[in-house]
Amino acid sequence: MARLNWGMIGGGEGSQIGPAHRISAGLDGKFNFAASALDIDAAKGKAFAQTLGIEGDRAYGDWREMLAGEKDRADRVDLVTIATPNSTHFEIAKAFTEEGFHVLCEKPMTMTVAEAEELVKLAEAKGTILAVNYGYSGYSLVRHMRAMVARGDLGKVRLIKAEFAHGFHADEADADNPRVRWRYDPDLAGVSAQFADCGIHALHMASYVSGQEAETLSADFASGIPSRTLEDDAMLNIKMSGGARCRLWTSSIAIGRMHGLNIQVFGERGGLRWAQEQPNQLFWTPLNGRTEIIERGAGNLSPEADRASRVTIGHAEGMPLAFANIYLDLAEAISAHKHGRTADSAATQYPKAIDGLRSMAAIVAAVDSAKQQGVWVDARPPMLR
Ligand code: NAI
Repeated sequence: MARLNWGMIGGGEGSQIGPAHRISAGLDGKFNFAASALDIDAAKGKAFAQTLGIEGDRAYGDWREMLAGEKDRADRVDLVTIATPNSTHFEIAKAFTEEGFHVLCEKPMTMTVAEAEELVKLAEAKGTILAVNYGYSGYSLVRHMRAMVARGDLGKVRLIKAEFAHGFHADEADADNPRVRWRYDPDLAGVSAQFADCGIHALHMASYVSGQEAETLSADFASGIPSRTLEDDAMLNIKMSGGARCRLWTSSIAIGRMHGLNIQVFGERGGLRWAQEQPNQLFWTPLNGRTEIIERGAGNLSPEADRASRVTIGHAEGMPLAFANIYLDLAEAISAHKHGRTADSAATQYPKAIDGLRSMAAIVAAVDSAKQQGVWVDARPPMLR
């Protein structure tokens, strides 16, 4: 397969998520980093791009310049990653999708449900790929949990417990740090801070693993740092489409919690437990049985898990490898799209615009519910009701 051309917007020097994208997109040699608009500061972005090996004429100062420069090139970028702050995602994703580019957008996909619906419809109309980076769905054992639920190992899923809690925004003295500030500024972050930043990863994972989507939810939002207008802690109860209940906690003031993305799934015939900080082990307890540890890399777990296991059993699995699985899926999907063939069915599980849309609907529903002392509200986007 010929290498695909890849471009990135945002993710400049010193950004949190830029390096993870560069490492993961480059890992399999499927993508050639060909063009970028990396930084809000044009000169800084151009200079950094050149240190990363991008040719001078494709190290653009901003995304509009990049769109104009790329759209008519014969070797234009096959995939554009959007790794800018949330408020810019919609405008950039829309502009590139309209020109027929495939896009991987950071989460949350947009600031409003209406924008997310517009993007879902636009990508459908254009026939382009619009993926959303719920990158933790790339872990081998997350894909195995999904496969175990889908093949019926747990029976009917009754209960899901999902958490994403960290303690890195707990210091009031650090509230002015530019990397932290935008996350709690409604103009830049949107209607929600912590739920939109981290909670939606937990919600996406609950849906991804269980195969059930949020239908109604009740939320309680809190601001542990009172100067924040947006929440830094949230607890949600969610009624899922297949009848399961999901209990979801997210926090950025949980001092001592690191990157606490944890999931437990309880069915009629057994329970599963997985934590991102210990991604190589999945704990499985069958009804009336003993707890078993399923190790990543053990042979023949499931085709989905086997495809996503890149290092032999026992080796630590880094977070960029999970992102790399999203890129690998996209390379296969784009290549299949380009050559008019069917994509490998094990490669179609990357999160899509529809997942971005569901998240947006859940964010707005959660904010609505929290304002009304946790009343149950519809969590589904209007077009899916
Ligand atoms: P950051 O503040 O560390 O970096 C943002 C970068 O974007 C900077 O290099 C900045 O100069 C650049 N930028 C800002 N506006 C721009 C524009 N208009 N054009 C080009 N570049 C621009 O932010 P961070 O933490 O890297 O987050 C970026 C996005 O990634 C957010 O949407 C965030 O929610 C998401 N994210 C996703 C994660 C995941 O696990 N999927 C983890 C962390 C962040």
